[in-house]
Amino acid sequence: MTAAILKSEDATKCFPTGIARGEAFINRHVERNQLQKNILANRHLVLMAPRRYGKTSLITEVASEINIPFCMVDFMTVHDDLTVRDALYEKVGKLVMELLPPIQQAKEKLLNIFGSMKPELALSAFGQKLTFHTPSNPISNIVDVLLKLDEAAVHFDKRAIIFIDEMQQISFLKNASSIEGSIRHAVERSRNITYCFSGSSRHLLRKMFGDKERPLYRLCHTFELERIAKEHYRQSLNKLALERWAEHLSSESFEAVLDLTESHPFYVNALCQVLWMEKNVPSMTEVQETWRNYVRDNRHIISDDVIGLSLNQKKVLSILAKEPAKEIYGAGFTVKTGLSLSSIRKAVDVLMEKDLIHVVNAHYTLVDPAIRYYLDNLL
Ligand SMILES: Nc1ncnc2c1ncn2[C@@H]1O[C@H](COP(=O)(O)OP(=O)(O)OP(=O)(O)O)[C@@H](O)[C@H]1O
Ligand SMILES: [Mg+2]
Repeated sequence: MTAAILKSEDATKCFPTGIARGEAFINRHVERNQLQKNILANRHLVLMAPRRYGKTSLITEVASEINIPFCMVDFMTVHDDLTVRDALYEKVGKLVMELLPPIQQAKEKLLNIFGSMKPELALSAFGQKLTFHTPSNPISNIVDVLLKLDEAAVHFDKRAIIFIDEMQQISFLKNASSIEGSIRHAVERSRNITYCFSGSSRHLLRKMFGDKERPLYRLCHTFELERIAKEHYRQSLNKLALERWAEHLSSESFEAVLDLTESHPFYVNALCQVLWMEKNVPSMTEVQETWRNYVRDNRHIISDDVIGLSLNQKKVLSILAKEPAKEIYGAGFTVKTGLSLSSIRKAVDVLMEKDLIHVVNAHYTLVDPAIRYYLDNLL
């Protein structure tokens, strides 16, 4: 029998509500393989999934596994073209140093490639990095730095990867189209640098990469991320139950965890984090109570997405929370909602756009299990 080695305070480490790394990262072998294969083939990617499905965790894991220099750029806080440029300067300036062979001539060649950007080699807390002193024309600076990075990679015969997270933030900027255009220009010409984009708004990313009128149209191969399979959770939760309580989680308790959270990675972690803090292995009833309390305690955050909806949208969402529907445009659903067909259509379009509902096994249902539980059980 395994001895209990996990303590109550290990729960947040085993079930993080932020990026899952190392031991906390469950499976995703197929996805990791596919991403790696595409990256090795220099295929640029856009990784799509609803919020909190594990995009950033997956990218971070793949990046650490792949034996190619990489940098991760996060556009979450960019607010103009200058901040986009500076985010790229910061990360590219470090990445480029990883491409250098350790000889003096290599540094000279690098300074030569980036010559027009007035490069300077500086020592930072993270090692040597290249900084740039360019006139402020951020849009052309963005193209330059990315093209020159590729030129350096080709010269030193190296590959590298740039992961760009929260890419949809670009669409809110005044110069969105020019920035997207400059990124396209560089990505299209890239020989040794592979780009992998992701972000937390599927709707905005789809528009960005799938709309004919937008500069990034059809630039990347789209990769859709699904939830983690039940069998993978079974292995992992059982191992962690043994390590915590020296006992298996009963199959009823396990099923309750995955039924209530609908295998949504964020909510599995949020619920298990509380369960694994307890001294005893939870019964099915305790799992249900813990989930109820979690949703109730977090109702202000959970209901945030619902509050801004129109009355019709709320009505459709509440009905789907009680029961997924197949014939959403049929007579039955019109009667249930008391709405006209065109009102239902409009409401459904918005709910889909906001990633609040999706279609699973030909049924319209809610994406977020906590919103569903809240609307169905607590209101
Ligand atoms: N493979 C995994 N194994 C275990 N937990 C995971 C895994 N992937 C993600 N998670 C958990 O799911 C939650 C969301 O993860 P992450 O932040 O990576 O998702 P995201 O899709 O990038 O989210 P956002 O849309 O907010 O950017 C976190 O609690 C994380 O710990
Ligand atoms: Mg993320």
